[in-house]
Amino acid sequence: MANAGAMRVAHRLDEVGFSDIVQIRNKVMALRAAGEKVHAFHGGEPFFETPEPIKQAAVKALADNQTHYAPSSGIAPLREALVKKLAAKNNIDATVDEVIATVGGSQALYGAFQTVLDPGDDVLVFDPYWTPISDLIRGTQARPLLVPTVSARRNGIRKTLKQFSTPKTRAIYYNTPQNPSGVVFTRAEAEEVAAFAQERDLLVIADEAYEDLVYEGEHFSIASLPGMAERTITCFTFSKTYAMTGWRAGYAVAKEPFMTGLRKIVLYSTNGVTTPVQYAMVEALKTTGKEIAARREDYRKRRDLLVAALNAVGLTCEPPAGAFYAFPNVEKISRNSKEAARLLLEKAHIATIPGSVFGAQGEGYLRFSYAVTLEEIEECAKALKKFLK
Ligand SMILES: Cc1ncc(COP(=O)(O)O)c(C=O)c1O
Repeated sequence: MANAGAMRVAHRLDEVGFSDIVQIRNKVMALRAAGEKVHAFHGGEPFFETPEPIKQAAVKALADNQTHYAPSSGIAPLREALVKKLAAKNNIDATVDEVIATVGGSQALYGAFQTVLDPGDDVLVFDPYWTPISDLIRGTQARPLLVPTVSARRNGIRKTLKQFSTPKTRAIYYNTPQNPSGVVFTRAEAEEVAAFAQERDLLVIADEAYEDLVYEGEHFSIASLPGMAERTITCFTFSKTYAMTGWRAGYAVAKEPFMTGLRKIVLYSTNGVTTPVQYAMVEALKTTGKEIAARREDYRKRRDLLVAALNAVGLTCEPPAGAFYAFPNVEKISRNSKEAARLLLEKAHIATIPGSVFGAQGEGYLRFSYAVTLEEIEECAKALKKFLK
């Protein structure tokens, strides 16, 4: 192969892609710029604005000149509040030295993969999965091993993990509730993953971004199982529960030696989370369980309305147990999900994400986000009926 000389980026970025989702967003913007109405079901943001007390906490922090460097792992009141939250909600016992504030859940995940993976390692990933995960893994020159979620749940999680594992397997990425499928793993399933991790001496990178959006069953944190806290890095975000996507607020919980790894990554990438944002995070953590439950019920109404509308036109799906996405089979439109998304956008002006961008198991499906208003779902239902009549 010809030597590309100096004018190339580092080889470890060769296999890292840019999300197809950006291309869809661009198409939506072009349609809107041309004066067309678009039913926007492609996003991943809550339908409500950041609550006022959270915004005011950031404003107050600015007024109080909380604009200086903060400890790069997070200010003390934030870490104390995180420790309390983890004990109360996740049944995870941690000290203030075992939590770290991050720039969104994304930095927590980036830090987790950078901390545990070496080039040549393999990571078990349930498929379909949130698209950036394979890029985060490939960015360390490790390799994702895709494990079909549906057949793993049908045939036995432990047995299936065993089947897909290699001698190079180092970790399991465990996302519940899942984006894009809405699958919520049960406690029994978490126990199977944990048993396999212990048997093979693997680490677990848990992603609990949608922990507060579970409609059927209960959210269960794998790190709360015996023997799992020491081999799990659990990543969380403020984006979904508190409608704080643009604030870039998240955190991770882990024990040593992994916490030192996370600290290094955070220190040398961003040197922590923006100081006023950390005060907003402290305020967000004061949100009551009742308020969070009320939002969840808002989402449930949207879920039920959208799922009924999809099934009514033959785009079949079960009500997803968690997160805020419906993932119907769209073979009625096209067996190729990119083609189905293109047709739906061009002919019915409904923007969705093709399932194939979430892995091979997503082919034949589209992801519809129901983090929109009830009126938007009703309008989408009408457009679907017209398109598929
Ligand atoms: C499964 C999953 N994990 C993590 C994140 C990270 O979110 P953020 O970087 O906004 O905190 C997202 C966002 O869409 C997600 O869907």
